[in-house]
Amino acid sequence: MSYPGKQVRVPKGLSILEASLRFKVPHASVCGGRARYSPCRVRVVSDRASLPRPSRREAFVLDRVGAGDPSIRLACQLRPQTDVAVIPILPPHIGADFVRNRRRTNIGEERYVVSMFVDMRGSTRLGEERLPFDIVFLINRFVDAACQAVTEAGGQPNQFVGDGVLALFGLDVDRGTACRQALRAASLVASKVAYLNHQFATEVRDPIQYGIGIHAGEVIVGDIGFRDRTVFTALGDAVNVAARLQDMTKTLECRVMLSEEVASTAGITLDLLKRQRIEIRGRVEPMTVLTAEDPTVLAGLIDPQGETSETELEVA
Ligand code: FES
Repeated sequence: MSYPGKQVRVPKGLSILEASLRFKVPHASVCGGRARYSPCRVRVVSDRASLPRPSRREAFVLDRVGAGDPSIRLACQLRPQTDVAVIPILPPHIGADFVRNRRRTNIGEERYVVSMFVDMRGSTRLGEERLPFDIVFLINRFVDAACQAVTEAGGQPNQFVGDGVLALFGLDVDRGTACRQALRAASLVASKVAYLNHQFATEVRDPIQYGIGIHAGEVIVGDIGFRDRTVFTALGDAVNVAARLQDMTKTLECRVMLSEEVASTAGITLDLLKRQRIEIRGRVEPMTVLTAEDPTVLAGLIDPQGETSETELEVA
């Protein structure tokens, strides 16, 4: 097996990545050879005629990273039976970071994710009435309640934007489950904020108000940032739309707004929700959304196992 500046003799059947590891050739590998993130990919610069063809898994991963060039292969999947010369494509430190920092480096992946924005209303007005310390305390209690709701439902709080939270669902579950988790989380946010309002009834003149926007779709998830200041997050149209929906809860005077995509993927009936077509800034086509004044109604549309309840199916 030939690498730039190095040649090694390996038994037949060894993958190129295994050969690199055995002979200490620096080589990026993040997922441990499971053909998930593709940083191990190499360019084959020798004759490719006798190489085994990519398996379905390898072809799928290469296709996702847009490697239309047949000379690009995954080193962890390619097990040459004859001499081969390769050049690793990505710098080897992607794997080294993983070992050094003991955390997974997410170099970017496209997947279906449900994004939910939860935003506290009126924190600016609160700032006029109360001391900064009180505001920070209140916002922290709100964010805490929202994050607890998200975690209990099975999602992940992802980013804190001022007095709001972006939560992601579906990083490790299927689409239907992710959508039901998000709906359950919205319902839990409502219950937890109601409890907060009960606790602060004598402290705060007006109850804490909030808005929730939920949308789902294919987005890019990965680590964004510089050096050790990176955050794992999701980028894409579906995330932006969720933020807009949250924003529009103010004008449409509701507490939760979700896309039809989320409702139909969750498998819930829509009878208890108000349905409407709206224009979304930055999108050509209007979008069908569902709104509710009280997000706790969403919990009634899904059963504890996350499936549509029998009653709802009968209604449907
Ligand atoms: S090591 Fe992860 S795709 Fe090859």
